[in-house]
Amino acid sequence: MKRILVTGGLGYIGSHTVVALQKAGYEVLIIDNLSNTSIDVLQGITEITNIPPTFERLDLRVKNDVTSFFERYNNIDGIIHFAASKAVGESVENPLLYYENNVTTLIHLLQECKVHGISNFIFSSSCTVYGEPDSLPIDEEAPIKKAISPYGNTKQISEEIISDVCNVSNLNAIALRYFNPVGAHPSGLIGELPVGIPQNLVPYITQTAAGVRKELSIFGNDYPTPDGSCIRDYIHVVDLADAHVKAIERLIRAENSTKFRVFNVGTGMGKSVLEIVSAFERVTGETLNYKIVDRRPGDVVAVYADTKKANDELRWKAQHDIDAALASAWAWEKKVRGID
Ligand code: UD1
Repeated sequence: MKRILVTGGLGYIGSHTVVALQKAGYEVLIIDNLSNTSIDVLQGITEITNIPPTFERLDLRVKNDVTSFFERYNNIDGIIHFAASKAVGESVENPLLYYENNVTTLIHLLQECKVHGISNFIFSSSCTVYGEPDSLPIDEEAPIKKAISPYGNTKQISEEIISDVCNVSNLNAIALRYFNPVGAHPSGLIGELPVGIPQNLVPYITQTAAGVRKELSIFGNDYPTPDGSCIRDYIHVVDLADAHVKAIERLIRAENSTKFRVFNVGTGMGKSVLEIVSAFERVTGETLNYKIVDRRPGDVVAVYADTKKANDELRWKAQHDIDAALASAWAWEKKVRGID
């Protein structure tokens, strides 16, 4: 049985990936510092798969703790590195926190890969590295634009660090550039649990429908898009999790054609904010309170993925549509809030 370390394995995407890995027959070790999630997620994972993953509460910024972890757990076949901070606005306010949380931790992990001969590494990247695209859909050859936020910059820098290390060591790595992950596990046992006021669209929608928020603010309806609202590529988190399994399999089978590969992980379909709102209302039968407000600084007009490379090389394709994703997000929100 191959042993995979998942950092940030109790987070939103991490937890769904742990489930997918266990179902595919991998042994999973989880590291998480619980800074943006709850220990209850471990229970949710175990209820879904009937396999309790090994868990250590650990902060990857603390080098000695990281070293000690790798001394205690050997024979790790691959690492999937999710642990990172992801709030764009917070990163502007506190850049050093973001560079420490997202870059220092990566360096600590890569140092351990070198010491222990771990050669398979998957990195959580983001379509944010593309900035405002010159053409759509966007493929992996598109230029990397200057990052608007320290958060975005940490993703760009991290990709470069990994690529440089691959050039001079036995490391083989894949960066998955996520588009907009949404939805929850169909079991209703794990999902997205934002701490505080949600920054992202779908949790804001579900919390508004649940009565936790008064109304959704739609950030702008005067963009150059058909209905004036921004366009994104919303990918079901279960599909996204599956892409990680495909990626780790590819590394373990040594199928990477170059030592560092990047793949877009999206559906290939762009949806506007207003389309998401009306799909949510149609799928759930709920009526959503919303108002149009000013544009949010830093938002790109439209971005959606060209997924051909992931389809062909990873042999991965999104299986769920936006309706399924929104229905699952709503089922999860209702469970969290105790709504029938
Ligand atoms: C953002 C980040 C991205 C990060 C991702 C995950 C930017 C430019 N991008 O993506 O780097 O990887 O979060 O955390 O910040 N919207 C509303 N009202 C809301 C919330 C969102 O209208 O209350 C709109 C936004 O303007 C946007 C769309 O919904 O058009 C999606 O927003 P969001 O879920 O925050 O994701 P991104 O901004 O695409």
